[in-house]
Amino acid sequence: MAIAAAQALGQIETVEKLGNTGAFSFGNRAVTPSRRIGRLDQLEAQVEQLLDRAKIAIVYGGDKREPGAVIRQAVNARSWKSYRSVAENIGDSLRRQGARNVQLLPDDMRLGERLSKDEIDFVWLNTGGVQGRSPMSHAAATLEMLGVPYLGHDPLMTGILDSKYVFKQNIAYLGLPTAAFALWNPAAMGGPDPRGDRRFERAFKGFGGPFIVKPVSGRASLHVHVVDDVNDLAEVIDEVYAATENDVLIETYLPGREYCIAIGGPVVARGNMLDRRSAPFAFSPAERRLDANELIFTSMDKKPITGDRVGPLDPAQDAAVIADLKNIAHAVYEDMQLESLIRLDIRADAAGKLHILEANPKPDLAAPTPQLTSIVTTGLAAEGMTYDDLIRSMFADRIDLLYCKRRGAVTALDALLG
Ligand SMILES: Nc1ncnc2c1ncn2[C@@H]1O[C@H](COP(=O)(O)OP(=O)(O)O)[C@@H](O)[C@H]1O
Ligand SMILES: [Mg+2]
Repeated sequence: MAIAAAQALGQIETVEKLGNTGAFSFGNRAVTPSRRIGRLDQLEAQVEQLLDRAKIAIVYGGDKREPGAVIRQAVNARSWKSYRSVAENIGDSLRRQGARNVQLLPDDMRLGERLSKDEIDFVWLNTGGVQGRSPMSHAAATLEMLGVPYLGHDPLMTGILDSKYVFKQNIAYLGLPTAAFALWNPAAMGGPDPRGDRRFERAFKGFGGPFIVKPVSGRASLHVHVVDDVNDLAEVIDEVYAATENDVLIETYLPGREYCIAIGGPVVARGNMLDRRSAPFAFSPAERRLDANELIFTSMDKKPITGDRVGPLDPAQDAAVIADLKNIAHAVYEDMQLESLIRLDIRADAAGKLHILEANPKPDLAAPTPQLTSIVTTGLAAEGMTYDDLIRSMFADRIDLLYCKRRGAVTALDALLG
């Protein structure tokens, strides 16, 4: 009965499609209905009023070593970074656009107290967390518990997106392209050597390499390794596990060109004018240019992201790949029912077919300077947008979403409008 029901829903067919590496179709997927019929001038007025009246906090990653930040220091399952300078960029942009009450707050155990004391109406999440497991979801979970409206993914979705393994399980189920993968934990699975294990065999079916070994929750290419031969996997798995004390992800290595694309909600600002599209907004398709001997993209912690390393794709010359990237981005956003900006990292296999590497739930939103670029902002000029337009788009899209889908969560904001 359950199988018949699933078949009727097309789920079995979707799962079966996974075996066929080439195949996934965008033709019959559901398209998100447009969000609400509300008028744009009403949304414009809400945005103006909230910028003027709301007490806004931008939350960045708190430092567990600061006195009073945590009860007990624990392991960081995800490499820690404060992201404070980006929080400053976001705050400055909101101020340029009329926000009168913006402050920065660290994500740590005093967050609730500070939000309450300063009577914060709205939070912009720009944190990867403080410590522990699923750290990026802690601030969102706290805000849900406290009843404070925020911009960012909800705690469940943050956790899903920040686990490369769970994210890949989700997109594989949805029939979206991603390299074969298996999870390994030397402490829980009887040592570092995955050879002969049924889960490893099921994923790789005798494939002997090359593989990628990386942390299940990582950032900036840290602890990412190419392993040419299956016999050398154990040593590298051990190394990544020792560095992260967290599960290790094993994938087939994709040797082709590497790309990124950003996608956010359907409300877009250009020169202060809002537009509500019928679909999410995919932008900044870019290529990460790898040197001849660069097997994986070098960490931005080691080599800053400059214009020669990451550049926007050319709308004419790269039209086909841009269309593919946008299709993939729309499918991920809509089919996973995302509600906030992500940046997808994507890489081609030897035949040129694109595969999703990961979704970044809190992509770098550093304001561009003449020397340095953040990937998400590389394509803004081509969209006729500035950095301030991007920040306004994200703010307006969240206000729109809250009024459409989270009526109960915005009573705090209601009092500021009118
Ligand atoms: N399966 C893969 N095949 C080829 N390269 C990969 C693969 N997975 C990761 N990489 C390389 O490692 C880099 C970092 O991996 P990614 O999954 O994006 O994690 P993060 O950016 O969080 O460190 C990528 O930008 C890419 O260059
Ligand atoms: Mg990445």
